[in-house]
Amino acid sequence: MIQTWVLGDGGQSFVLASFHDRLPQVVYWGPAIDDDADTIAAAMALDVGGGMLDAIPDLSICPEASQGFAGQPGLLIAKADGTPFDPRFTLAGVQADHDHVAFTYTDADHGLTYEAFFTFDPETRMITARATIEAETPVRVQYLAAPVLPAPQLADEMIDYAGGWINEFQPNRVPWTAGIRMRDNRTGRTGHEHYPAVLLPERGATHTQGNAYAIHYGWSGGHRMIAEELPDGRRQVQFGHAMGTQLVASTRFETGPLYAVFSDTGLNGCAVAFQRHLRDRIIKWPDADRPRPVHYNCWEAIYFDHDMETLKSIADSAAKLGAERFVLDDGWFGKRDDDTTSLGDWDVDSRKYPDGLGPLVDHIHGLGMRFGIWFEPEMVNPDSDLYRAHPDWALGRADQTLGRYQMVLDMSKVEVRDYLFDKIAAVLTDIDVDYIKWDHNRVLPVADAAQAQGYYALLERLRGAFPDTEIESCSSGGGRMDFGALSYTHRVWLSDCIDPVERLRQQAEAAQFLPLVVTGSHVGAHESHTTGRQIDIHMRAWVASQRHMGFEMDPRFISDEDAAVLTRVTTWWKENRHWREKADILRLDTADAAVIAEQQVAIDGTRFVVYAGHLEASKQNLPRPLRLTGLDPSAMYRVSLLNIDERPPQSRGDIPLAKGPIEVSGQFLMHHGLSLPWSFPQTMWVIEGERI
Ligand code: DGJ
Repeated sequence: MIQTWVLGDGGQSFVLASFHDRLPQVVYWGPAIDDDADTIAAAMALDVGGGMLDAIPDLSICPEASQGFAGQPGLLIAKADGTPFDPRFTLAGVQADHDHVAFTYTDADHGLTYEAFFTFDPETRMITARATIEAETPVRVQYLAAPVLPAPQLADEMIDYAGGWINEFQPNRVPWTAGIRMRDNRTGRTGHEHYPAVLLPERGATHTQGNAYAIHYGWSGGHRMIAEELPDGRRQVQFGHAMGTQLVASTRFETGPLYAVFSDTGLNGCAVAFQRHLRDRIIKWPDADRPRPVHYNCWEAIYFDHDMETLKSIADSAAKLGAERFVLDDGWFGKRDDDTTSLGDWDVDSRKYPDGLGPLVDHIHGLGMRFGIWFEPEMVNPDSDLYRAHPDWALGRADQTLGRYQMVLDMSKVEVRDYLFDKIAAVLTDIDVDYIKWDHNRVLPVADAAQAQGYYALLERLRGAFPDTEIESCSSGGGRMDFGALSYTHRVWLSDCIDPVERLRQQAEAAQFLPLVVTGSHVGAHESHTTGRQIDIHMRAWVASQRHMGFEMDPRFISDEDAAVLTRVTTWWKENRHWREKADILRLDTADAAVIAEQQVAIDGTRFVVYAGHLEASKQNLPRPLRLTGLDPSAMYRVSLLNIDERPPQSRGDIPLAKGPIEVSGQFLMHHGLSLPWSFPQTMWVIEGERI
């Protein structure tokens, strides 16, 4: 007996089938098909060969060891006393409509109920899935996979992400081979090292073409990913909380949401789905139509050296350059003169601010800017009044190795969350703040899922009490940028590295998931504080303008020439934000490995901007044509080089784009591409286009 369920639309079909009331399997996921789902389910039946069991165990949404499934099971469970057992589930009920399926399965012998939920969003094309386990008496769950998905057979590699501080979003291209690729992130936070996602391109897929799948696990406590090729050749991808992080026996366990999408327009089709879904479905904006304000953050200007008159004068200069929000970073509380002390003591430092923060906030508001403030709520320094009063509030052993001289508060404790809520609420009530930069600067001493749950609970309570306050998710830069954190926050600090050479690459990779509106990008000092590179203001300004733009250098000390460039780029950013904030970011396939390029296309397709970043000297003498994407081949486009005034003297040719706009077809732009002027390494061409 076969039962089937279909999700999808004109671009993607996702077919689930249950055989004889066993757990369902994804029997088809790919380009839209109209076939009868039962026929497909029957047609995908596999042969049985020599040396195998007499029936093929299902690669179901929660593969069961009890069926003889010899790969990684979807559930590792034990009795409260630690004795492991292997459940076997039988269908108890299904609720399905056009865009949703909810399965209930039971294992009567073990008193367990397994539920799986699938939702398809026809506008963003995103499939969201999660699973729960309920038990009649407490059990221990070592690992529970969100609904397990098949990986494509005609694929040679998968792409996941490593990274580190100032080095976020480093793609790993890993070949598919028999066996397991496992990421088990035991840092207790999302981390720079393990972005919880995988890309599954089919053979030949690139950014702009071919079939590709992408999966992201929306959880901030550390994930486990398994990409496994079984001995019979089938491939599965699992995501769940990191192994063994649900520390106590309980009667209910829930996975984080799994986001999954198929694209027949290359990795960009997946990127667009993630960007739109995050921006339009997941983030809870206080006012979705409010334009993103140009940001100023004082961290790299003053670090811990807070002085009222200096800050006012920085604010004056930032406002003159076009900033619309001022964020006061670390150093305003306790006795925080460096990073060894005071986390947890969230009272204004009266040595630095004898009259409180009010005079600074008034000054900033007087300049027409909004005001934001930094917290690192989940942390405590041993050298703090909080730790001295409540050493038992810290997570882990008292003699643990510290991280940045700090410990982590146990967020599962209600009294800890109450304390933090009261402290943060007092600041938000006392002064007119509508933005928090929420930091998290170390890995956890214990990987415990309750920590991320406590973090979410505190955010939920604060968002309820201060619904107009936006929150930036920062974790030593980009250590917490998953869709779980972004369900409560509104912006990420992608990296502490604002050297535009590094940032260009990071921003290109991060756009696989993050849209412009959430990705903070700031103009730094001439000499980068994290790489020591000295980079021209044009490159710094254009790279910041790719995303949610801001400044972080000391604006009092930039030259008039640099200020003029910055003002021009910032003005352009403001003039274009109304359409770019909703635009899709498409990565371009570049013929020159020295170039990283992207195209931001308006949602109605009428205009675009292309950024072509030339990172290092090219191997060939002249730029190779840059192919665009996502245009109407039959339409004509007017294309112009916005920053032709940055042309170096060595570019001497008589090329049309250097003289003014050209008018060419979408077909030409997508098949041949743009001939750009020769350029120096570490520079950017910015090209505007409009449909005629
Ligand atoms: C790490 C963040 O990434 C920085 O931007 C800054 O806020 C510091 N923490 C402050 O301690």
